[in-house]
Amino acid sequence: MIALGNDHGGYELKQEIIKYLDEKGFEYKDFGCYGTDSCDYPEFGKKVANAVASGECEKGILICGTGIGISIAANKVKGIRAALCTDCFMAEATRLHNDANILALGGRVVGPGLAVKIVDTFLNTEFSDEERHKRRIAQIED
Ligand code: RB5
Repeated sequence: MIALGNDHGGYELKQEIIKYLDEKGFEYKDFGCYGTDSCDYPEFGKKVANAVASGECEKGILICGTGIGISIAANKVKGIRAALCTDCFMAEATRLHNDANILALGGRVVGPGLAVKIVDTFLNTEFSDEERHKRRIAQIED
């Protein structure tokens, strides 16, 4: 189950990502917001982060205008490793090296075509499970 969350700046891009998830058969839970009226991104970052940290959802995707504020908010929740990615290299690397459990995107930064490729890379790349990466993640948790 993928947790989705966004503010008004991420709403339109979320619709494109939902199309991709539907096409590929991914299950998701949409924590809002549900339109383009101005709202506060920390609320939605927290909802998705809690859903992932509790195990209710395996991974999350968060979108605000830049992806910055909503990833900062999500990373306040223990156990969350939210990674803001602007290309597929970052999405692959953050899964391989950081075992990132939330992808953050900027709805005003990346176009829908690139965003969907970033999501595809993020969801289809497994953690490398190498000792040095596990050690560094444990250091983050400490
Ligand atoms: C909202 O205008 C904007 O500040 C927000 O979407 C995000 O970019 C914050 O980091």
